[in-house]
Amino acid sequence: MLFVVRTTELLTVTWKDNSVVMIDQTKLPNKLEFVKCKTYERVADCIKNMVIRGAPAIGVAAAMGLALAALKSKTKTPDGLLHELDIAFKALRNTRPTAVNLLWALERVMKKANSQSSVKTIKAIVLNEALEMAKEDINTNKEMGVFGSALIEDGDNILTHCNAGALATVAYGTALGVLRAAKEQGKRISVIATETRPVLQGARLTAFELKHDGIDVSVAPDTAIGSLMSSGAVKKIIVGADRVLRTGHVFNKIGTYQVAVLANKHDLPLYVAAPLSTFDLKSDPDKVTIEQRPFDEITTMGGKRIVPKGVRVFNPAFDVTPPELISGIITEKGVLRPPYDMAIKTIIE
Ligand code: MRU
Repeated sequence: MLFVVRTTELLTVTWKDNSVVMIDQTKLPNKLEFVKCKTYERVADCIKNMVIRGAPAIGVAAAMGLALAALKSKTKTPDGLLHELDIAFKALRNTRPTAVNLLWALERVMKKANSQSSVKTIKAIVLNEALEMAKEDINTNKEMGVFGSALIEDGDNILTHCNAGALATVAYGTALGVLRAAKEQGKRISVIATETRPVLQGARLTAFELKHDGIDVSVAPDTAIGSLMSSGAVKKIIVGADRVLRTGHVFNKIGTYQVAVLANKHDLPLYVAAPLSTFDLKSDPDKVTIEQRPFDEITTMGGKRIVPKGVRVFNPAFDVTPPELISGIITEKGVLRPPYDMAIKTIIE
């Protein structure tokens, strides 16, 4: 299926005037500002510091980072250029370890680069592949929207965690793309965005983009999730993913596991929306690196210290939800149902 991209759509990351331009997500919701990256090192920095974040978005940004490395290279030989690309590849790959889209995107571009034998064609193919990926991302999200929206009923109250929206992708979103599609079909929905401590992607980003699109949204503290579920305020849950394993284990923003356990306790369906670029068929659940973020995200709030000095803190950025807590995984090829190992095999092989 091919969808039309509206030119008015706000793009999280784009290629413009030989630069990578991205929305500065650290400034939202108070300011809508853009950052222009002219080097791959700057792109890597923006990924690491979460100027851009969300699994598909950092994949596309990293691919465009490689395009910048190719473009800026002064080398005269294909081997020299491939060597420089390899250095950029490593720098971009080492920014954030959990979302597999980053590695997937970088490897896909490097494979194309290695298929060429001249400096000119390597440069051209690297940029072309990165731009292709950005286009594909929007299309994939819209395809997921078609399948996923069938799970949403008129009048649903849906809880989502973190931000798996337009801001986590090039546009439209994965989990929030499903909700956008449901809204476009005329279904009346209301969304509860969890705050998502400590970086507050739910409060700052999900609420911002849903409000921007006129989708009814309320923000709730992470600590209210159980109480909201037990009071009947939530009908279903939809989240995104940073990595889905062949077993159906889902790595996503810290707190997703808690949401899933509570959903299970209250007999509420929990769906994960993830493009196939988020699937990692090689790793075992205990082999995936969970990113540990800086402690000051926990110890300070609004620039003020909130934890006594000298007290230990934990700040894992992601957790893993086991397959038995997941009712379905929405992909661009359809909705997968348990047993996921079988369903994933059928769809991918
Ligand atoms: O640390 P972040 O903000 O990059 O984490 C993002 C998430 O966990 C999202 O839920 C996930 O990447 C899915 S995005 C479509």
